[in-house]
Amino acid sequence: MNNKQADKSPISLDYRDRNVVISGGSSGIGLGIARHLAALGARISIIGRNQDKLSAALSTIYEIAPDAAGYSADVRDAPRITECLTEIRRTRGEIDVVIAAAAGNFFVPAEKMSPNAFKTVIEIDLIGTFNVFSAALPLLRREDAALLAITAPQAQRPMANQAHACSAKAGIDMLVKCLAMEWGTHGVRVNAVSPGPIAGTEGLARLSATPEIERFVRDATALRKFGDVEDIARSVAFLCSPMARYVTGTVLDCDGGMRHGNFVPMQ
Ligand code: HXC
Ligand code: NAP
Repeated sequence: MNNKQADKSPISLDYRDRNVVISGGSSGIGLGIARHLAALGARISIIGRNQDKLSAALSTIYEIAPDAAGYSADVRDAPRITECLTEIRRTRGEIDVVIAAAAGNFFVPAEKMSPNAFKTVIEIDLIGTFNVFSAALPLLRREDAALLAITAPQAQRPMANQAHACSAKAGIDMLVKCLAMEWGTHGVRVNAVSPGPIAGTEGLARLSATPEIERFVRDATALRKFGDVEDIARSVAFLCSPMARYVTGTVLDCDGGMRHGNFVPMQ
């Protein structure tokens, strides 16, 4: 293919005819992504455990995309995830984009963290991401299919009381690189977005037990402010679109500069 031919392929954030699945799409960042991609024309399916949460989320997506659908499943249950994705493929067509946003977290010192507490977060975040991606692979449309994981700056930058989540997210950063290497020949790109502290989310609430910690987290960003779910959704929309067709195996920091770390208080 010469460059003139290459230029004819779509260069836009148009998601019409794109079949998108989002695990963890029933609240917070995942729901923000679902609503944003719905507004760009995508057919949206969301996965979460709690049926009431799914229904509430769907009611906010229906305003934009009346054909949105929800599936109740736990990402730790690989056979159930395969069942959901197979059902989505059967009833809603080949899958173009899969976003793994489900996560679990709580603030706890490592010495008080039980083995099961550590295992639980690894299973939801890291193994859950693998379960979703590996179930999706045979069901993807192999022309610029995109898989995207949600990681965190804490994958690269340690944080006290977060040994489980930091370890899980570090695993996700490497997982997207390995899968990108293996699945590129299938026409599948695999990337991640790394959100900084995002206002109004469960994740930020769980990391900011006191106003002092909240201020510390905010001031750890270069921009000295929290992001919002729309900031993350825009980065995801770019990476999962043909605009990023030569981008794979990368982690896009959308974190106000948090990964670079600011340890010294500034005026
Ligand atoms: C210490 C805790 C704990 C806590 C649970 N555990 N909460 N230990 N402090 N606050 C321990 C339990 O005692 C148990 O260990 C083990 O963890 C499993 O707990 P369960 O309640 O049985 O787990 P489960 O019902 O599967 O629920 C998972 C959950 C829950 C993670 C605990 O909070 C959840 O479902 N969260 C989903 C929503 C969420 O967390 N959103 C925020 C994502 S934000 P024992 O030994 O007693 O059996 C995010 C930000 C990332 O990820 C940025 C930083 C990296
Ligand atoms: P959230 O509102 O708690 O959303 C978590 C979503 O995942 C919900 O839809 C939840 O629905 C689902 N979920 C949780 N455990 C699941 C499981 N075992 N199986 C299936 N679905 C499950 O969290 P958030 O703050 O928006 O975070 C979303 C993502 O962004 C996570 O990957 C998180 O690590 C990442 N992140 C967040 C921040 C932040 O500031 N918020 C910063 C960095 C990274 P159910 O509970 O009904 O299952």
